[in-house]
Amino acid sequence: MSEAVEGTAREDRFQPFFVTCAAGTELALKDELRELRLHKVRADRGGARFEGTIDHAFRACLHSRIGVRVLMPIARFPAPDGEALYAGTRDVEWERWLTPRHTLAVSAISKQSALTHTAFVAQKTKDAIVDRLRDHTGARPNVDREDPDVAIFVHIAKDEASVHLDVSGESLHRRGWRRAIGEAPLKETLAAAVLRLSGWDRERPLIDPTCGSGTIPIEADLWARDVAPGIARDRFGVERWASHDARERAAFRAMRDEARANERPSGPEILGLDVDPRAVSLAESNAKRAASRARFRRASLRDLALPRTPTELVANPPYGVRLDVRAFWDELAAIRPALRGHRLSLLLQAPPPEGLLPEPVASHRLFNGAIECRLLTWEC
Ligand SMILES: C[S@@+](CC[C@H](N)C(=O)[O-])C[C@H]1O[C@@H](n2cnc3c(N)ncnc32)[C@H](O)[C@@H]1O
Repeated sequence: MSEAVEGTAREDRFQPFFVTCAAGTELALKDELRELRLHKVRADRGGARFEGTIDHAFRACLHSRIGVRVLMPIARFPAPDGEALYAGTRDVEWERWLTPRHTLAVSAISKQSALTHTAFVAQKTKDAIVDRLRDHTGARPNVDREDPDVAIFVHIAKDEASVHLDVSGESLHRRGWRRAIGEAPLKETLAAAVLRLSGWDRERPLIDPTCGSGTIPIEADLWARDVAPGIARDRFGVERWASHDARERAAFRAMRDEARANERPSGPEILGLDVDPRAVSLAESNAKRAASRARFRRASLRDLALPRTPTELVANPPYGVRLDVRAFWDELAAIRPALRGHRLSLLLQAPPPEGLLPEPVASHRLFNGAIECRLLTWEC
């Protein structure tokens, strides 16, 4: 028998949620979710938990800059083998969220369990869901791996399955404005975490001297002006579920309207620079689509002219062993005296050349996908 996660009888009751994020950004996410006035927020491995209603989960989707997915646990049961997984999944009241007209996709993770084959776990779960719906309605829903109406996550740990619905739908790093992709764009969610962890106060002017497609300046501008990161998204996953009703529609509309009303028309000066003119035009078109006020210019780091006002420099410079990495450090060395009085935060895969910069005032270990990085901050 599967056990419904306590309090999940109706989506308007308080229940647990889990917001996923890039490894190393959990504490930044926890701070952000607390600022969003969510309840019982706790950081955990790979994300943060909170308790709330489906409206709170929608608030997280609309306003979290660092969260990647908002997951709603719906059942937990022992799953030592395929039969138990099938039976436990079939016990869940899937008809609350899905009709045969809805499409679904299941993904799975397994740790320290007899069921190691995640494709098998996903298949078994999907079979149980469609069999239950066929029994209840006489028809079965279809699978759509690319763009499902209802995305389901199964997590098996120590032979126990936890089944979740993805409230967010598409990953939250897809803000709805990026069409053009630069050479190595930072995910919007990671850029937001970098900005928060850099200690920027959202008032000082900010410059990204190696801005690529503009992710850091655009995220900085939207954050400084309180523009909700999800405001440009057409919809979130929960808005495609069968349970999405008139009450939810009104509540979600009200949250979107409130978010728009709270946007500030102006913010600090935000500038992105890049030596590559194609990156600059990409950044400009991304900023336009994001309705961001960040400005962009073609310039090499060595030409950086800093204002007198203390400025925040935040960047993920070129990485690897390429020529432009060495050029970046040489150019930084050349402008080193001009950096005095400003703050610099760099997301790096390898430390800077010895002696170039003082001891960093802060260091955070983060993962950019599978790549381990450090965000180092200097008071120059
Ligand atoms: C890792 S990418 C930055 C990606 C960016 N954060 C994004 O989200 O698209 C590094 C960028 O640094 C630029 N770059 C390399 N050397 C530079 C230099 N000396 N001065 C300015 N920009 C430089 C490259 O053109 C590239 O766009």
